Amino acid sequence: MAAHEPAAEEQIERELERLEAIERFAPPPDFQAHALIRERSIYEQGARDPLSFWADQARRLSWSEPFEAVLDDSDPPFYRWFHDGKMNVSYNCLDRHVLAGRGDVVAYHWRGEEGQERTLTYAELLAEVKRFANALRDLGVREGDVVGIYLPMVPEVVVAMLACARIGAVHNVVFGGFAVEAVRERMAVSEAKALVTVDGSARRGAIAPVKAAVDQILPELPALEHVVVVRSKGGDCPMQAGRDHFYDELIERADAECEAVALDAEHPLFILYTSGSTAKPKGIVHSSAGYLTGVATTHRIVFDLRSAADEDDRGLPPDVYWCAADVGWVTGHSYIVYGPLANGATSVLWEGAPDYPHRGIWWELIERYRVSILYTAPTAIRACIKWGAQWPARYDLSSLRLLGSVGEPINPKAWLWYHKVIGGERCPIVDTWWQTETGAIMITPLPGITETKPGSATLPFPGISAEVVDEHEGKPLAGGQGLLVIDRPWPSMARTLYREGERFVETYFSRFGKRTYVVGDAARRDADGYFWVIGRIDDVVNVSGHRLSTAEVESAIVSHPDVAEAAVIGQHDEQTGQAIVAFVTLRADYQGADPEQEVRDLVGERIGKFARPKRVIWAEDLPKTRSGKIMRRLLRDIAEGRALGDVTTLRDPEVMQALAEHVAQARAAEAD
Ligand code: PRX
Repeated sequence: MAAHEPAAEEQIERELERLEAIERFAPPPDFQAHALIRERSIYEQGARDPLSFWADQARRLSWSEPFEAVLDDSDPPFYRWFHDGKMNVSYNCLDRHVLAGRGDVVAYHWRGEEGQERTLTYAELLAEVKRFANALRDLGVREGDVVGIYLPMVPEVVVAMLACARIGAVHNVVFGGFAVEAVRERMAVSEAKALVTVDGSARRGAIAPVKAAVDQILPELPALEHVVVVRSKGGDCPMQAGRDHFYDELIERADAECEAVALDAEHPLFILYTSGSTAKPKGIVHSSAGYLTGVATTHRIVFDLRSAADEDDRGLPPDVYWCAADVGWVTGHSYIVYGPLANGATSVLWEGAPDYPHRGIWWELIERYRVSILYTAPTAIRACIKWGAQWPARYDLSSLRLLGSVGEPINPKAWLWYHKVIGGERCPIVDTWWQTETGAIMITPLPGITETKPGSATLPFPGISAEVVDEHEGKPLAGGQGLLVIDRPWPSMARTLYREGERFVETYFSRFGKRTYVVGDAARRDADGYFWVIGRIDDVVNVSGHRLSTAEVESAIVSHPDVAEAAVIGQHDEQTGQAIVAFVTLRADYQGADPEQEVRDLVGERIGKFARPKRVIWAEDLPKTRSGKIMRRLLRDIAEGRALGDVTTLRDPEVMQALAEHVAQARAAEAD
């Protein structure tokens, strides 16, 4: 690793202080001169007549049967958008670009961890999608069937998603960092018929044998008839005749022609499981046309995208866009796959981690592919700050013209560093607030017109209506902190929870009636009406942009036979936003040698390594109310070293004293 250059770091610190004093940032004039949106009237259009605003956006897509109806709101919160129209998402993402003569435009510059490269044009991607769609059909997959996808960041993950969309199968992607146990649960509850996975996946030079691990869960999945294995990292992997098939062999045998099926606008496009307040993940269901309308519109407008598909060149070359998320999260679905492809964009797809083979790899890729738009998460920016500005300084980042942030509130220091060191003070930053449930970006600057303030996602996107309300009656607040709600339907909203309609209503639309979507975040608005999202109000934690439920982690920990009880909280963390802290009570007769390691390993096995607790604190007992409910608020106070709130409702107030001592011991041990 290169030596630190303290003088340069000090100079950056001084410059960040200078920028901090500015507080608000107007769109850079050079950027503004070529921006797609230069008029504020777009907000008025969205506010005056949101339905015609969204209908206009939906008409930018190709329809096999145009819609007449825009919104059916007769049965809230089960809204339907454009429901009398028919279309196909894969046709919109691929065929229409190829048919318009843009088959040679690059859809993805894929780059493997070891430096391998593969360029996929729209024509090539379409050809492979058609074949794989036929292959899925040959395996018996039909419209409405669920297909699981458990793949790393290889081009085949995009092919598999679009092939499902082409034939009306519903994909259920599981992030590659989840353990197979999480895959089992998600396949079981969705009754997936087929699973597309990989022989092995590369991570920081090591190869994980994915297929062998998947084999452990297959006996428990009776509905799963077929497993498709992408050959990625070579090596032998066990294959069972009749059930397991290599992707390349299927593609070779499959017919090359496959017409996109005209599907109802409301046909489900995918299920994506996300964490909520309970241990059971929620299967968020997204639609076809409304979802695609939302992601295509926001991708074009928020990122100011200039693609080969645009007639007006605005004096700009086509962008090279890079969303550095993983395709297994909603950010990847919406802004690596569907939004960019619907817009005919050219994207970068990077297989690896941000620090392998070296800590400058992202900047090397930006230089190599002349990336002009970068979309990433604050946690990644904070890691780069820690590694030092000398890494980006080695590469030419002058191609960048816009930066995006997503996943958690961005702290002003990270914002300013991103602006200065990566953006060279010439790139606007779009801090985009949204969720798995919202499908698309909801609160965000429009880069050509919105003044930004570091840490604020600014204003709702045109056509979106958000409020901060008081927690009791749901009345809009003039100032102060309250609950973030969205009080008007929007096309890319989740349609339901898979096979759990009641839970959908209860989780999101019960507090203030069936027309108000309660987001689950606390927020405040400032005097300019800007939104400042503070964080979750439920038992959801956000670790490095990964959404986890404390209940899910607790249930993994208590599955250890020697654990009597566990309570998990999210604690503020400099690096990862929040870190998981587990308070654990062991059974009196515990015999093991290293309970902390065992607990962490167990969480790794049952959920995934990214969910392992950063700290495990032993507790003789946990603070409980007289009715036996664990008071997590007190655990959070104690973990963050705050003065304890009211403890009079505790069954046994002594418990807190003992816990405080354990926390102090754990801290001292870490400091050593
Ligand atoms: O708490 C908010 C936070 O991430 C949550 C949604 O997580 P998930 O469904 O996994 O989707 C993440 C990527 C869209 C939100 O409830 N969050 C997301 N973006 C921001 C944010 N918090 C503050 N600012 C953001 N820009």
